[in-house]
Amino acid sequence: MDAFVIEGGRPIKGRLRVNGSKNACLPLMAATLLTDQPVTLRGVPRLADIANMQRLLAELGVDTGASVGDEAFAHLGPATLTAQPTGEAVSHARYEIVKTMRASISALGPLVAKRGEARIALPGGCAIGQRPVDLHLRGLEAMGAELTLESGDIVARAPKDRSGRRRLRGATIFLSGPSGSTVLGTANVMSAATLAQGRTIIEAAACEPEIADLAVLLNAMGARVRGAGTPRIVIEGVEALGGAEHHVMPDRIEAGTYMVAAAITGGRLTLENCPIDALLAFTDRLHEVGVRLEVTDAGDPLRATCEVWAGARIRPAHVTTQPHPGFPTDLQAPMMALLCLADGNSVVTEKIFPERFLHVAELSRMGASIFRQGPTAVVTGVSRLVGAPVMASDLRASACLVLAGLAADGVTNVHRVYHLDRGYERMEATLNALGARIERVDAKELDSSAQAAGA
Ligand code: UD1
Repeated sequence: MDAFVIEGGRPIKGRLRVNGSKNACLPLMAATLLTDQPVTLRGVPRLADIANMQRLLAELGVDTGASVGDEAFAHLGPATLTAQPTGEAVSHARYEIVKTMRASISALGPLVAKRGEARIALPGGCAIGQRPVDLHLRGLEAMGAELTLESGDIVARAPKDRSGRRRLRGATIFLSGPSGSTVLGTANVMSAATLAQGRTIIEAAACEPEIADLAVLLNAMGARVRGAGTPRIVIEGVEALGGAEHHVMPDRIEAGTYMVAAAITGGRLTLENCPIDALLAFTDRLHEVGVRLEVTDAGDPLRATCEVWAGARIRPAHVTTQPHPGFPTDLQAPMMALLCLADGNSVVTEKIFPERFLHVAELSRMGASIFRQGPTAVVTGVSRLVGAPVMASDLRASACLVLAGLAADGVTNVHRVYHLDRGYERMEATLNALGARIERVDAKELDSSAQAAGA
Protein backbone atom coordinates (compact mmCIF):
# COMPACT_ATOMS: atom_id res chain seq x y z
CA MET A 1 0.00 0.00 0.00
CA ASP A 2 1.33 3.44 -0.90
CA ALA A 3 2.10 6.17 1.61
CA PHE A 4 3.17 9.79 1.27
CA VAL A 5 6.26 11.17 2.94
CA ILE A 6 5.76 14.91 3.23
CA GLU A 7 8.45 17.38 4.17
CA GLY A 8 6.47 20.27 5.57
CA GLY A 9 7.01 24.00 5.65
CA ARG A 10 7.27 24.78 1.92
CA PRO A 11 4.86 27.36 0.45
CA ILE A 12 2.54 26.20 -2.35
CA LYS A 13 2.94 28.68 -5.19
CA GLY A 14 2.17 28.80 -8.87
CA ARG A 15 -0.62 28.03 -11.33
CA LEU A 16 -2.99 25.10 -11.43
CA ARG A 17 -5.79 23.93 -13.70
CA VAL A 18 -8.70 22.34 -11.84
CA ASN A 19 -9.63 18.86 -13.11
CA GLY A 20 -13.06 17.58 -14.07
CA SER A 21 -15.34 16.75 -11.16
CA LYS A 22 -15.40 13.16 -9.88
CA ASN A 23 -18.80 13.60 -8.28
CA ALA A 24 -20.26 15.04 -11.48
CA CYS A 25 -18.64 12.42 -13.66
CA LEU A 26 -19.87 9.28 -11.87
CA PRO A 27 -23.61 9.91 -12.41
CA LEU A 28 -22.85 11.24 -15.92
CA MET A 29 -21.24 7.92 -16.72
CA ALA A 30 -24.20 6.03 -15.23
CA ALA A 31 -26.53 8.08 -17.44
CA THR A 32 -24.93 6.53 -20.53
CA LEU A 33 -26.95 3.41 -19.61
CA LEU A 34 -30.08 5.32 -20.69
CA THR A 35 -29.36 5.19 -24.42
CA ASP A 36 -28.38 2.87 -27.29
CA GLN A 37 -26.29 5.64 -28.85
CA PRO A 38 -22.68 6.66 -28.07
CA VAL A 39 -22.15 9.36 -25.44
CA THR A 40 -18.84 11.24 -25.23
CA LEU A 41 -17.63 12.80 -21.99
CA ARG A 42 -14.71 15.25 -22.11
CA GLY A 43 -12.55 16.46 -19.23
CA VAL A 44 -12.86 13.18 -17.32
CA PRO A 45 -10.49 13.04 -14.33
CA ARG A 46 -8.05 10.11 -14.17
CA LEU A 47 -9.13 8.64 -10.85
CA ALA A 48 -9.56 5.21 -9.32
CA ASP A 49 -13.32 5.78 -8.84
CA ILE A 50 -13.74 6.62 -12.52
CA ALA A 51 -11.85 3.45 -13.47
CA ASN A 52 -14.19 1.51 -11.13
CA MET A 53 -17.22 3.00 -12.84
CA GLN A 54 -15.74 2.01 -16.22
CA ARG A 55 -15.46 -1.58 -14.96
CA LEU A 56 -19.04 -1.52 -13.75
CA LEU A 57 -20.31 -0.12 -17.06
CA ALA A 58 -18.35 -2.75 -18.98
CA GLU A 59 -20.09 -5.49 -16.98
CA LEU A 60 -23.43 -3.85 -17.67
CA GLY A 61 -22.82 -3.70 -21.43
CA VAL A 62 -21.34 -0.24 -21.99
CA ASP A 63 -17.78 -0.08 -23.30
CA THR A 64 -15.83 3.09 -22.39
CA GLY A 65 -12.40 2.09 -23.75
CA ALA A 66 -9.10 1.86 -21.88
CA SER A 67 -9.14 2.37 -18.11
CA VAL A 68 -8.42 5.98 -17.14
CA GLY A 69 -6.77 4.61 -13.99
CA ASP A 70 -4.02 3.01 -16.08
CA GLU A 71 -0.65 4.38 -14.91
CA ALA A 72 0.64 4.42 -18.49
CA PHE A 73 -1.81 7.22 -19.34
CA ALA A 74 -1.30 9.20 -16.15
CA HIS A 75 0.74 11.93 -17.87
CA LEU A 76 -1.91 12.56 -20.51
CA GLY A 77 -4.19 14.92 -18.57
CA PRO A 78 -7.97 14.70 -18.61
CA ALA A 79 -9.47 11.82 -20.54
CA THR A 80 -12.23 11.70 -23.12
CA LEU A 81 -14.49 8.71 -22.77
CA THR A 82 -16.93 7.51 -25.38
CA ALA A 83 -19.53 5.14 -23.97
CA GLN A 84 -20.60 2.58 -26.57
CA PRO A 85 -23.50 0.30 -25.68
CA THR A 86 -22.68 -3.34 -26.46
CA GLY A 87 -25.70 -5.26 -25.13
CA GLU A 88 -28.23 -5.49 -22.32
CA ALA A 89 -27.71 -9.08 -21.23
CA VAL A 90 -26.36 -8.18 -17.76
CA SER A 91 -28.18 -5.74 -15.45
CA HIS A 92 -26.56 -6.84 -12.20
CA ALA A 93 -24.10 -4.58 -10.34
CA ARG A 94 -22.26 -7.10 -8.17
CA TYR A 95 -21.20 -6.54 -4.58
CA GLU A 96 -17.50 -6.91 -5.55
CA ILE A 97 -17.73 -3.63 -7.44
CA VAL A 98 -20.33 -1.80 -5.34
CA LYS A 99 -18.31 -2.32 -2.14
CA THR A 100 -15.32 -0.49 -3.68
CA MET A 101 -17.47 2.43 -4.77
CA ARG A 102 -20.79 3.46 -3.27
CA ALA A 103 -21.57 5.65 -6.29
CA SER A 104 -22.32 2.39 -8.17
CA ILE A 105 -25.83 2.96 -6.83
CA SER A 106 -26.20 5.64 -9.54
CA ALA A 107 -26.63 2.86 -12.10
CA LEU A 108 -29.91 1.77 -10.48
CA GLY A 109 -32.21 4.49 -11.85
CA PRO A 110 -30.85 4.44 -15.42
CA LEU A 111 -30.93 0.62 -15.58
CA VAL A 112 -34.49 0.18 -14.38
CA ALA A 113 -35.69 3.05 -16.58
CA LYS A 114 -34.03 1.75 -19.76
CA ARG A 115 -34.20 -2.02 -19.32
CA GLY A 116 -37.25 -2.33 -17.09
CA GLU A 117 -35.29 -4.15 -14.44
CA ALA A 118 -32.07 -3.97 -12.46
CA ARG A 119 -30.24 -5.74 -9.69
CA ILE A 120 -27.70 -3.85 -7.57
CA ALA A 121 -25.86 -4.97 -4.47
CA LEU A 122 -26.89 -2.85 -1.51
CA PRO A 123 -23.93 -0.66 -0.52
CA GLY A 124 -22.87 -1.16 3.10
CA GLY A 125 -21.83 1.51 5.58
CA CYS A 126 -18.53 3.30 5.14
CA ALA A 127 -15.90 5.07 7.17
CA ILE A 128 -17.93 8.27 7.39
CA GLY A 129 -20.95 6.51 8.88
CA GLN A 130 -24.19 4.87 7.96
CA ARG A 131 -25.22 5.84 4.43
CA PRO A 132 -28.71 4.61 3.63
CA VAL A 133 -30.26 4.54 0.14
CA ASP A 134 -33.88 4.57 1.30
CA LEU A 135 -34.62 7.82 -0.54
CA HIS A 136 -33.33 6.44 -3.86
CA LEU A 137 -35.68 3.50 -3.40
CA ARG A 138 -38.60 5.65 -2.27
CA GLY A 139 -38.27 7.68 -5.48
CA LEU A 140 -38.26 4.66 -7.76
CA GLU A 141 -41.11 3.06 -5.85
CA ALA A 142 -43.19 6.20 -6.35
CA MET A 143 -42.61 5.72 -10.09
CA GLY A 144 -44.18 2.28 -9.84
CA ALA A 145 -41.03 0.15 -9.45
CA GLU A 146 -41.47 -3.05 -7.50
CA LEU A 147 -38.52 -3.51 -5.15
CA THR A 148 -37.31 -6.64 -3.42
CA LEU A 149 -34.19 -7.53 -1.49
CA GLU A 150 -32.57 -10.77 -2.67
CA SER A 151 -29.27 -12.01 -1.20
CA GLY A 152 -28.15 -8.48 -0.32
CA ASP A 153 -29.12 -7.14 -3.76
CA ILE A 154 -31.92 -4.68 -4.50
CA VAL A 155 -33.98 -5.97 -7.38
CA ALA A 156 -36.11 -3.31 -9.07
CA ARG A 157 -38.74 -3.97 -11.73
CA ALA A 158 -40.69 -1.31 -13.57
CA PRO A 159 -44.45 -1.91 -13.99
CA LYS A 160 -45.75 -3.12 -17.37
CA ASP A 161 -47.57 -0.57 -19.53
CA ARG A 162 -50.53 -1.43 -21.81
CA SER A 163 -48.24 -2.78 -24.53
CA GLY A 164 -46.51 -5.07 -22.05
CA ARG A 165 -43.32 -2.97 -21.96
CA ARG A 166 -41.79 -2.45 -18.54
CA ARG A 167 -41.72 1.31 -18.01
CA LEU A 168 -41.65 3.63 -15.00
CA ARG A 169 -44.52 6.09 -14.50
CA GLY A 170 -44.10 9.79 -13.75
CA ALA A 171 -44.90 10.81 -10.15
CA THR A 172 -44.55 13.64 -7.66
CA ILE A 173 -41.82 12.72 -5.23
CA PHE A 174 -40.68 14.37 -2.01
CA LEU A 175 -37.02 13.39 -1.87
CA SER A 176 -35.86 14.54 1.54
CA GLY A 177 -34.97 12.62 4.71
CA PRO A 178 -34.06 13.71 8.25
CA SER A 179 -30.73 15.13 7.07
CA GLY A 180 -32.19 16.88 4.04
CA SER A 181 -31.84 16.17 0.34
CA THR A 182 -29.77 13.43 -1.30
CA VAL A 183 -27.35 14.13 -4.13
CA LEU A 184 -27.01 10.70 -5.74
CA GLY A 185 -30.67 9.96 -4.90
CA THR A 186 -31.68 13.03 -6.90
CA ALA A 187 -29.37 11.98 -9.75
CA ASN A 188 -30.89 8.50 -9.76
CA VAL A 189 -34.52 9.58 -9.72
CA MET A 190 -33.99 12.43 -12.21
CA SER A 191 -32.18 10.11 -14.64
CA ALA A 192 -34.85 7.41 -14.29
CA ALA A 193 -37.66 9.92 -14.85
CA THR A 194 -36.30 10.94 -18.27
CA LEU A 195 -37.67 7.70 -19.75
CA ALA A 196 -40.79 7.38 -17.56
CA GLN A 197 -44.28 7.71 -18.92
CA GLY A 198 -45.53 11.23 -18.17
CA ARG A 199 -44.33 13.97 -15.85
CA THR A 200 -42.20 13.57 -12.73
CA ILE A 201 -41.80 16.33 -10.16
CA ILE A 202 -38.98 16.01 -7.62
CA GLU A 203 -39.57 18.24 -4.60
CA ALA A 204 -36.76 18.89 -2.08
CA ALA A 205 -34.26 17.86 -4.75
CA ALA A 206 -30.55 18.27 -4.07
CA CYS A 207 -29.34 21.61 -5.50
CA GLU A 208 -25.69 20.61 -5.94
CA PRO A 209 -24.09 21.91 -9.15
CA GLU A 210 -23.30 18.32 -10.17
CA ILE A 211 -27.07 17.74 -10.49
CA ALA A 212 -27.35 20.71 -12.84
CA ASP A 213 -24.41 19.33 -14.85
CA LEU A 214 -26.16 15.96 -15.15
CA ALA A 215 -29.30 17.67 -16.42
CA VAL A 216 -27.25 19.40 -19.13
CA LEU A 217 -26.11 16.01 -20.42
CA LEU A 218 -29.58 14.44 -20.13
CA ASN A 219 -31.11 17.32 -22.09
CA ALA A 220 -28.38 17.04 -24.73
CA MET A 221 -29.43 13.37 -25.05
CA GLY A 222 -33.01 14.49 -25.72
CA ALA A 223 -34.49 14.49 -22.22
CA ARG A 224 -36.81 17.24 -20.99
CA VAL A 225 -35.55 18.30 -17.59
CA ARG A 226 -36.23 21.71 -16.03
CA GLY A 227 -35.20 23.20 -12.71
CA ALA A 228 -32.10 21.05 -11.99
CA GLY A 229 -29.94 22.93 -9.48
CA THR A 230 -33.08 24.12 -7.62
CA PRO A 231 -35.22 22.21 -5.07
CA ARG A 232 -37.96 21.53 -7.66
CA ILE A 233 -37.08 19.55 -10.77
CA VAL A 234 -39.71 18.80 -13.42
CA ILE A 235 -39.07 16.04 -15.94
CA GLU A 236 -41.32 15.24 -18.90
CA GLY A 237 -40.63 11.61 -19.82
CA VAL A 238 -39.66 10.81 -23.43
CA GLU A 239 -39.73 7.54 -25.41
CA ALA A 240 -35.97 7.23 -25.95
CA LEU A 241 -32.72 9.13 -25.50
CA GLY A 242 -29.96 9.56 -28.08
CA GLY A 243 -26.22 10.14 -28.07
CA ALA A 244 -24.53 13.39 -26.99
CA GLU A 245 -21.24 15.06 -26.11
CA HIS A 246 -20.61 16.76 -22.81
CA HIS A 247 -17.77 18.53 -21.00
CA VAL A 248 -17.64 17.52 -17.31
CA MET A 249 -17.78 20.49 -14.92
CA PRO A 250 -14.61 21.24 -12.91
CA ASP A 251 -14.22 19.79 -9.43
CA ARG A 252 -15.21 22.29 -6.74
CA ILE A 253 -13.84 20.08 -3.94
CA GLU A 254 -10.46 19.73 -5.62
CA ALA A 255 -10.39 23.51 -6.16
CA GLY A 256 -11.24 24.14 -2.50
CA THR A 257 -8.60 21.69 -1.30
CA TYR A 258 -5.85 23.43 -3.29
CA MET A 259 -7.04 26.84 -2.07
CA VAL A 260 -6.43 25.59 1.47
CA ALA A 261 -3.01 24.24 0.40
CA ALA A 262 -1.98 27.76 -0.64
CA ALA A 263 -3.46 29.37 2.49
CA ILE A 264 -2.10 26.90 5.04
CA THR A 265 1.46 27.16 3.71
CA GLY A 266 1.50 30.94 3.32
CA GLY A 267 1.73 30.48 -0.45
CA ARG A 268 -0.08 31.95 -3.42
CA LEU A 269 -1.93 30.02 -6.11
CA THR A 270 -3.65 30.91 -9.36
CA LEU A 271 -6.43 28.45 -10.18
CA GLU A 272 -7.76 28.14 -13.72
CA ASN A 273 -10.96 26.33 -14.67
CA CYS A 274 -12.22 27.06 -11.15
CA PRO A 275 -15.98 26.69 -10.43
CA ILE A 276 -15.99 29.76 -8.22
CA ASP A 277 -19.79 30.20 -8.35
CA ALA A 278 -20.23 26.71 -6.91
CA LEU A 279 -17.96 27.51 -3.94
CA LEU A 280 -19.52 30.61 -2.43
CA ALA A 281 -20.16 29.21 1.07
CA PHE A 282 -16.60 27.95 1.19
CA THR A 283 -14.97 31.14 -0.11
CA ASP A 284 -17.11 33.12 2.33
CA ARG A 285 -15.52 31.16 5.22
CA LEU A 286 -12.05 31.60 3.69
CA HIS A 287 -12.67 35.34 3.62
CA GLU A 288 -13.77 35.19 7.27
CA VAL A 289 -10.49 33.55 8.35
CA GLY A 290 -8.41 36.09 6.43
CA VAL A 291 -7.64 34.23 3.19
CA ARG A 292 -7.64 36.57 0.19
CA LEU A 293 -9.21 35.59 -3.09
CA GLU A 294 -9.27 37.62 -6.25
CA VAL A 295 -11.20 36.51 -9.31
CA THR A 296 -9.29 37.71 -12.37
CA ASP A 297 -11.48 36.17 -15.07
CA ALA A 298 -15.08 35.23 -14.44
CA GLY A 299 -16.22 35.10 -18.08
CA ASP A 300 -17.70 31.72 -17.17
CA PRO A 301 -18.19 31.67 -13.37
CA LEU A 302 -18.02 27.86 -13.40
CA ARG A 303 -14.63 28.01 -15.15
CA ALA A 304 -13.07 31.13 -13.68
CA THR A 305 -9.47 32.11 -12.99
CA CYS A 306 -8.71 33.24 -9.46
CA GLU A 307 -5.81 33.91 -7.20
CA VAL A 308 -5.64 32.80 -3.55
CA TRP A 309 -3.24 33.78 -0.79
CA ALA A 310 -3.33 34.02 2.98
CA GLY A 311 -3.09 37.11 5.15
CA ALA A 312 -0.50 37.40 7.91
CA ARG A 313 -2.59 35.36 10.36
CA ILE A 314 -5.51 32.95 10.17
CA ARG A 315 -8.56 33.95 12.18
CA PRO A 316 -10.94 31.41 13.74
CA ALA A 317 -14.41 30.81 12.27
CA HIS A 318 -17.66 28.91 12.72
CA VAL A 319 -18.26 26.36 9.98
CA THR A 320 -21.46 24.33 9.61
CA THR A 321 -21.82 21.89 6.73
CA GLN A 322 -25.12 22.04 4.86
CA PRO A 323 -26.55 20.84 1.56
CA HIS A 324 -25.62 23.12 -1.37
CA PRO A 325 -25.45 26.13 -1.45
CA GLY A 326 -24.23 25.70 2.14
CA PHE A 327 -20.71 24.75 3.17
CA PRO A 328 -19.90 21.37 1.54
CA THR A 329 -19.26 18.43 3.85
CA ASP A 330 -16.48 17.32 1.50
CA LEU A 331 -14.48 20.45 2.43
CA GLN A 332 -15.05 20.17 6.18
CA ALA A 333 -11.89 18.11 6.83
CA PRO A 334 -9.62 20.27 4.59
CA MET A 335 -10.98 23.43 6.27
CA MET A 336 -10.34 21.96 9.70
CA ALA A 337 -6.64 21.55 8.85
CA LEU A 338 -6.50 25.32 8.27
CA LEU A 339 -8.48 26.15 11.44
CA CYS A 340 -5.97 24.13 13.49
CA LEU A 341 -3.52 27.01 12.88
CA ALA A 342 -5.97 29.86 13.54
CA ASP A 343 -5.55 32.48 16.23
CA GLY A 344 -8.36 31.34 18.56
CA ASN A 345 -11.27 28.91 18.84
CA SER A 346 -13.25 27.67 15.85
CA VAL A 347 -16.43 25.60 15.91
CA VAL A 348 -17.06 23.03 13.18
CA THR A 349 -20.47 21.37 13.00
CA GLU A 350 -21.12 18.48 10.61
CA LYS A 351 -24.78 18.32 9.65
CA ILE A 352 -24.58 15.92 6.68
CA PHE A 353 -22.46 13.05 8.04
CA PRO A 354 -22.25 13.54 11.84
CA GLU A 355 -19.60 10.80 12.14
CA ARG A 356 -17.28 12.38 9.61
CA PHE A 357 -14.50 13.26 12.07
CA LEU A 358 -11.95 10.48 11.59
CA HIS A 359 -9.29 13.09 10.84
CA VAL A 360 -9.63 14.61 14.35
CA ALA A 361 -7.60 11.93 16.13
CA GLU A 362 -4.92 12.03 13.44
CA LEU A 363 -4.65 15.84 13.50
CA SER A 364 -4.24 15.59 17.28
CA ARG A 365 -1.21 13.35 16.70
CA MET A 366 0.28 16.32 14.83
CA GLY A 367 -0.24 18.68 17.76
CA ALA A 368 -3.71 20.03 16.93
CA SER A 369 -6.01 20.83 19.81
CA ILE A 370 -9.53 19.62 19.02
CA PHE A 371 -12.40 18.71 21.29
CA ARG A 372 -15.20 16.79 19.65
CA GLN A 373 -18.64 16.16 21.01
CA GLY A 374 -21.18 14.50 18.72
CA PRO A 375 -21.45 16.39 15.44
CA THR A 376 -19.43 19.36 16.70
CA ALA A 377 -15.70 19.92 17.05
CA VAL A 378 -14.11 22.86 18.82
CA VAL A 379 -10.71 23.59 17.32
CA THR A 380 -8.35 25.64 19.45
CA GLY A 381 -5.72 27.08 17.16
CA VAL A 382 -2.08 26.20 17.86
CA SER A 383 0.99 28.10 16.63
CA ARG A 384 2.40 25.10 14.76
CA LEU A 385 1.71 21.52 13.74
CA VAL A 386 4.41 18.88 14.01
CA GLY A 387 5.03 16.08 11.49
CA ALA A 388 3.98 12.57 12.56
CA PRO A 389 2.95 9.23 11.08
CA VAL A 390 -0.81 9.37 10.44
CA MET A 391 -3.42 7.13 8.87
CA ALA A 392 -5.78 8.21 6.09
CA SER A 393 -9.26 6.82 6.67
CA ASP A 394 -11.45 8.24 3.93
CA LEU A 395 -10.99 10.42 0.90
CA ARG A 396 -11.43 13.90 2.35
CA ALA A 397 -9.82 13.04 5.72
CA SER A 398 -6.75 12.01 3.70
CA ALA A 399 -6.69 15.37 1.94
CA CYS A 400 -6.88 17.08 5.33
CA LEU A 401 -3.85 15.15 6.58
CA VAL A 402 -1.82 16.00 3.47
CA LEU A 403 -2.69 19.69 3.98
CA ALA A 404 -1.67 19.49 7.64
CA GLY A 405 1.56 17.76 6.57
CA LEU A 406 2.36 20.55 4.10
CA ALA A 407 2.15 23.09 6.91
CA ALA A 408 3.75 21.02 9.68
CA ASP A 409 7.29 21.27 10.96
CA GLY A 410 9.23 18.13 10.03
CA VAL A 411 8.13 15.02 8.19
CA THR A 412 4.60 13.60 8.01
CA ASN A 413 4.00 10.08 6.75
CA VAL A 414 0.43 9.67 5.51
CA HIS A 415 -0.44 5.98 5.26
CA ARG A 416 -3.12 4.42 3.03
CA VAL A 417 -3.20 7.12 0.37
CA TYR A 418 -5.31 4.87 -1.89
CA HIS A 419 -8.24 6.78 -0.41
CA LEU A 420 -6.74 9.95 -1.87
CA ASP A 421 -6.25 8.41 -5.30
CA ARG A 422 -10.02 7.83 -5.47
CA GLY A 423 -10.66 11.56 -5.65
CA TYR A 424 -7.50 13.58 -6.41
CA GLU A 425 -5.62 13.13 -9.65
CA ARG A 426 -1.89 12.56 -8.86
CA MET A 427 -2.02 14.88 -5.87
CA GLU A 428 1.66 14.51 -5.02
CA ALA A 429 2.74 15.39 -8.58
CA THR A 430 0.39 18.40 -8.60
CA LEU A 431 1.66 19.69 -5.26
CA ASN A 432 5.34 18.96 -6.04
CA ALA A 433 5.02 21.06 -9.20
CA LEU A 434 3.86 23.88 -6.92
CA GLY A 435 6.79 23.67 -4.51
CA ALA A 436 5.85 20.84 -2.14
CA ARG A 437 8.17 17.96 -1.33
CA ILE A 438 6.10 14.77 -1.26
CA GLU A 439 7.37 11.32 -2.05
CA ARG A 440 5.10 8.38 -2.78
CA VAL A 441 6.57 5.24 -1.25
CA ASP A 442 5.54 1.69 -0.56
CA ALA A 443 4.42 1.67 3.10
CA LYS A 444 6.54 -1.45 3.69
CA GLU A 445 9.67 0.67 3.09
CA LEU A 446 8.55 3.07 5.81
CA ASP A 447 7.85 0.24 8.22
CA SER A 448 11.24 -1.34 7.68
CA SER A 449 13.12 1.95 8.03
CA ALA A 450 11.16 2.68 11.24
CA GLN A 451 12.13 -0.76 12.57
CA ALA A 452 15.76 -0.17 11.65
CA ALA A 453 15.69 3.18 13.44
CA GLY A 454 14.16 1.56 16.52
CA ALA A 455 16.68 -1.32 16.55
C1 UD1 B 1 -22.66 12.72 -2.45
C2 UD1 B 1 -21.20 12.87 -2.80
C3 UD1 B 1 -20.36 12.96 -1.52
C4 UD1 B 1 -20.87 14.06 -0.61
C5 UD1 B 1 -22.39 13.90 -0.38
C6 UD1 B 1 -22.98 15.06 0.40
C7 UD1 B 1 -20.96 11.67 -4.90
C8 UD1 B 1 -20.38 10.52 -5.63
N1 UD1 B 1 -20.77 11.71 -3.55
O1 UD1 B 1 -22.83 11.48 -1.76
O2 UD1 B 1 -19.01 13.24 -1.90
O3 UD1 B 1 -20.20 14.01 0.63
O4 UD1 B 1 -23.08 13.82 -1.64
O5 UD1 B 1 -22.77 16.25 -0.27
O6 UD1 B 1 -21.52 12.58 -5.48
N2 UD1 B 1 -29.43 9.92 3.04
C9 UD1 B 1 -30.52 9.23 3.50
N3 UD1 B 1 -31.17 8.38 2.65
C10 UD1 B 1 -30.77 8.20 1.36
C11 UD1 B 1 -29.65 8.92 0.89
C12 UD1 B 1 -28.99 9.77 1.76
O7 UD1 B 1 -30.90 9.37 4.66
O8 UD1 B 1 -31.40 7.43 0.63
C13 UD1 B 1 -28.71 10.85 3.94
C14 UD1 B 1 -27.23 10.48 4.15
O9 UD1 B 1 -27.06 9.56 5.17
C15 UD1 B 1 -26.63 11.83 4.46
C16 UD1 B 1 -27.46 12.79 3.61
O10 UD1 B 1 -28.66 12.10 3.30
O11 UD1 B 1 -26.82 12.16 5.82
C17 UD1 B 1 -26.78 13.23 2.35
O12 UD1 B 1 -26.33 12.10 1.60
P1 UD1 B 1 -26.31 12.10 0.02
O13 UD1 B 1 -26.53 13.48 -0.49
O14 UD1 B 1 -27.19 11.03 -0.50
O15 UD1 B 1 -24.80 11.68 -0.27
P2 UD1 B 1 -24.31 10.90 -1.56
O16 UD1 B 1 -25.16 11.29 -2.71
O17 UD1 B 1 -24.13 9.45 -1.25
